[in-house]
Amino acid sequence: MDQKTLIKKALKAKENSYSPYSKFKVGAALLAKDGSIYCGANIENAAYGPSNCAERTAFFTAVFEGQRDFEAIAIAGGYNDETSDYCYPCGVCRQVMREFCNPDTFKLIIVKNENEYKEYLLKELFPHSFGPDDL
Ligand code: THU
Repeated sequence: MDQKTLIKKALKAKENSYSPYSKFKVGAALLAKDGSIYCGANIENAAYGPSNCAERTAFFTAVFEGQRDFEAIAIAGGYNDETSDYCYPCGVCRQVMREFCNPDTFKLIIVKNENEYKEYLLKELFPHSFGPDDL
């Protein structure tokens, strides 16, 4: 699986966003270690609080399918159909990633467009974290 495929899938997933309140569409494509890809988009709610981020939509779908080992996630977000800037995952999503991923190896690809993206390890975006190994 090449990175470009994951990036394209994140950009495509953004189109499935349900975000009538913020109008901010986010798409994510999560790569499991067996090569499967799980996509997600943000799904908002009139009561605001029950809204779900794109990253968690992808993670929860994958975990429900039995996946436990992950390699990377690509994330793309922006107002309406634009992706004019980098969209970094919120703190809650970083904590969810921490539950299922090794911070030293799990990669986050933050996508502006097909040709502009930045790569990080989870430990860089979520240092000194609390995880399953602390309990
Ligand atoms: N959002 C995501 O889906 N992922 C992120 O990484 C940041 C924010 C969503 C939540 C909400 O629907 C909208 O973007 C504006 O905050």
